[in-house]
Amino acid sequence: MSSVLVVAGAVFANGKLLIAQRAYPPELAGLWELPGGKVESGETHSDALVRELCEELNVDVSVGEPLSEVVRPREGLELVAIRARIVSGEPRPVEHRALRWVDADDLIALDDAGSVVPNDRAWIPELVADLRVE
Ligand code: C5P
Repeated sequence: MSSVLVVAGAVFANGKLLIAQRAYPPELAGLWELPGGKVESGETHSDALVRELCEELNVDVSVGEPLSEVVRPREGLELVAIRARIVSGEPRPVEHRALRWVDADDLIALDDAGSVVPNDRAWIPELVADLRVE
């Protein structure tokens, strides 16, 4: 079985983090995530993140450091979150239901309300720590 690698973008600007509300599948619709998607063969993590955020948000980003937590929800699936900043464009929800800029308290409240995609919850402590110093 080949392994699936997903990259997700932790996009920061003006002291806030950009999160996206999933439109599908039904069990995840309405929940918030870091936007991203599957790394295709031949791509680096960074290439894949730039492509995915262009497709999903219609922005160009510069890619920074990965978060330290790598998420392995099941055999054959690995998710890596990478910090990024917008270089050009105004983000819009091309594939998501909505986008939102959140601060640390907003993110904690969404998590407490059960509104974060389960796979992404492991990143919250590190994202909150980043937001506190943004
Ligand atoms: O967004 P897309 O459907 O291309 O994502 C590929 C896979 O990665 C899906 O299983 C999705 O649920 C998962 N994913 C995730 N957290 C993210 C982005 C994607 O669990 N932030």
